[in-house]
Amino acid sequence: MNSFTYEYPVKVYFGEGAAKKNLPSELTKVGKTVMLAYGGGSIKRNGVYDELMSILKATGKTVVEFTGIMSNPTYAKVQEGARLAVENDVDFILAVGGGSVIDCCKIVSAQAKTSEDIWEMEYGARKFPSEFIPMGSVVTAFGTGAEENCGAVITHEEKKLKAALWGAFYDFTILDPEYTMSMPLKQVISGAFDSLSHSMETYMGSPRVPNYSDEINEATQRSIIRNIRATLADPSDRVARSELIWVAAMAENGMLKIGKVTDFQCHMLEHQLGAYTDCNHGQGLAVLHPVLYRHMLPEASSQFARLAVEVWGVDPKGKSEASLAEAFVDALAAFIKEIGLPSTLTEMGISEATDLRAIADSTVITAGCARKFTPDELLQVLEESI
Ligand code: NZQ
Ligand code: ZN
Repeated sequence: MNSFTYEYPVKVYFGEGAAKKNLPSELTKVGKTVMLAYGGGSIKRNGVYDELMSILKATGKTVVEFTGIMSNPTYAKVQEGARLAVENDVDFILAVGGGSVIDCCKIVSAQAKTSEDIWEMEYGARKFPSEFIPMGSVVTAFGTGAEENCGAVITHEEKKLKAALWGAFYDFTILDPEYTMSMPLKQVISGAFDSLSHSMETYMGSPRVPNYSDEINEATQRSIIRNIRATLADPSDRVARSELIWVAAMAENGMLKIGKVTDFQCHMLEHQLGAYTDCNHGQGLAVLHPVLYRHMLPEASSQFARLAVEVWGVDPKGKSEASLAEAFVDALAAFIKEIGLPSTLTEMGISEATDLRAIADSTVITAGCARKFTPDELLQVLEESI
């Protein structure tokens, strides 16, 4: 195993009624002015806003609303939130939504505490913020696991980059499956596929030989696949929903990464695709994964072969490692079709005129990927995906 330090700072309240049961006591620990941050309004339609507002009012808080956080949050939106937080002397941020709201607030919390530009600080001076407005999150759309880590994926529109910034961990997160029941089914499936992608991207790093973290990871992937199928069979299945929410959290809270250098090449490519097209994250991953993985067959065959057997139930009898590896990529591609996710960028509505060259050239090449991709080969992957 590689050396590691593991610490988990986020308190998780999981289950039906978790906000009513636990938010009042959490709010007694924080200052008077709370920024309630959310997206385009789904929380007003499903009753979550009213429920949280009544808790905030009952605990005597002054509420400042930061609204309209878009999917694939922009750096401009981060700056708007930070200005609002400073102007209103916000003591605490309550982020309510999916990965986009949760990520945006991580950087708002840091930007509000410094006069330096966070992007330039992190990517220019290679310094990281150390002061934050404390935060809690309420998850209404799951899949990214963003509530569990301190990385935020932010789109810098002028720079044409969708990249990670490092902010604060949430003090607590509330995962109530009921709050997610109003998610559109399409978002449930693309979110769950994102969780599967996080698990695979972690698995495909090194060490590449069997190890304990990967064995937990195999169980994680089996669980995601089983629960996606159960959800499609019955979208109101609360057992499947609960498992998908927790498994999404597990895939991004660092547990599966213990002792590993991760891969995440597919994510880096998808993020740049997002910078240029503002596409849905889980859908982008669904298109790119099988294509990218076919390019990795020579270097990644032992890991792919293990996934074929341990996750996808392929019978290894009489099969070579190379044919098992191919069977894994075939099984993944077939699953993507089975669950109604797109297999081409065109199906996602991405135009053939998109500047694929610029996307490939601006994609980060990761250290942990079994194959060291070149920008030219990433361009090939994108061209094969269109
Ligand atoms: O804005 P509202 O009206 O709330 O609608 C949202 C949004 O349109 C809707 N929604 C959320 N909860 C709902 C609901 N609709 C009905 N009922 C509910 N209960 O869902 C839509 C999508 O929300 P969004 O937060 O954008 O989706 P997701 O959770 O997939 O987050 C995507 C973002 O997270 C980043 C992605 O790149 C993307 O920017 N990621 C963050 C990661 C992290 N920090 O660890 C890891 C991931 O790899 C990912 O990159
Ligand atoms: Zn992801």
